[in-house]
Amino acid sequence: MSAPTEASETLDEQVPRLVVPTPTKIDRTQVVYVRPKISVLEQNVRSPFTAGVKNFPTFEVTPALTKKANERIAQYPENQKRSAVLPLLHEVQHRFGFISPESIEWVAEKLDISPIKVLEVVTFYPGFRQKAPGKFHVRVCRTLSCAMGGSEELMEKLCEITGIDRSQSDGHKDPIAVSPCGTYSVEFAECLASCGTAPVCLVNDDFHEGISADKAEALLSSYTNS
Ligand code: FES
Repeated sequence: MSAPTEASETLDEQVPRLVVPTPTKIDRTQVVYVRPKISVLEQNVRSPFTAGVKNFPTFEVTPALTKKANERIAQYPENQKRSAVLPLLHEVQHRFGFISPESIEWVAEKLDISPIKVLEVVTFYPGFRQKAPGKFHVRVCRTLSCAMGGSEELMEKLCEITGIDRSQSDGHKDPIAVSPCGTYSVEFAECLASCGTAPVCLVNDDFHEGISADKAEALLSSYTNS
């Protein structure tokens, strides 16, 4: 290395030395945590109102719901009751059709966690719905085998028959589109684990294989006429 020149020594003197401030210790007992309000969540949740609401009761904390929720919570250690978030959400969706902002607040209260923690779970799992589906909710697989087998055409045909306008839905964030009569709704789903019988779909919890677009009408009729 060459010896420092007169010029570099002068520059060294001119540049002030970097002073790293000593970090101040935070007294966490003085920190005020602000609990998020449900109205903030509502801004991130699309309006749950669809014509499908006629198919489900409005969210209400009934004695039966409270009893079931308490049973579920009791399955976990006292200091781990937040682990019951999935069972409680399933219970809500099963009874009321979808997860409303009010039900998110109720689940949060039952588990002593903030509503945003519940919303995180709801938005992570595509199986949870944030708005009312139709009486018959069709989930069409759109992953590779089904896409190649005609799932896009199947979806188009379902919408044509039921009068569903899919432009009201919004990809991942709000994937459900409901018919004006509220009887049907559709949603694309990822691989339903039956790639060899593509295209496949679920109607509510019933699995159907090999449903090409020309079978869409018969599929829907088997529900509406049953
Ligand atoms: S790609 Fe549709 S079931 Fe797997």
